[in-house]
Amino acid sequence: MSMGNLDQLYRSVIMDHYKNPRNKGQIDDGTLTVDLNNPTCGDSIRLTMNVKDDIIEDAKFDGEGCSISMSSASMMTETVKGQTVERALEMSQQFSNMMLGEDYEITEDMGDIEALSGVSQFPARIKCATLAWKALEKGTENEEE
Ligand code: FES
Repeated sequence: MSMGNLDQLYRSVIMDHYKNPRNKGQIDDGTLTVDLNNPTCGDSIRLTMNVKDDIIEDAKFDGEGCSISMSSASMMTETVKGQTVERALEMSQQFSNMMLGEDYEITEDMGDIEALSGVSQFPARIKCATLAWKALEKGTENEEE
């Protein structure tokens, strides 16, 4: 696939997640709730999760934000569901590396998140893309022993 086609594919994956967000809403009896905002624009996200025996059994997000932040939240929740907290945090690390233009490894079980790789070229938007992942990190901080 040429770079142009890949770009187009990534863009349509992002728009699909933005228009048809996966896991939008809140888990009423979730074990974790995290509110986080992007200080540069004020957009915010609420992440609710159900973590049992170190497994993220469910994850949902709510909030208002730009297409990058909301599509990233959709991809993130889809990706971490069913994973251990440890694995989810590894994924978060790889996503962060991808945003910073460092070496990264995206494996099959990480879903669509590589579609956001182009954001690394736009430093002002990196915080949009990492907002949901930062919420995940903040929420699981005390879960990991
Ligand atoms: Fe606010 Fe992207 S502009 S999160």
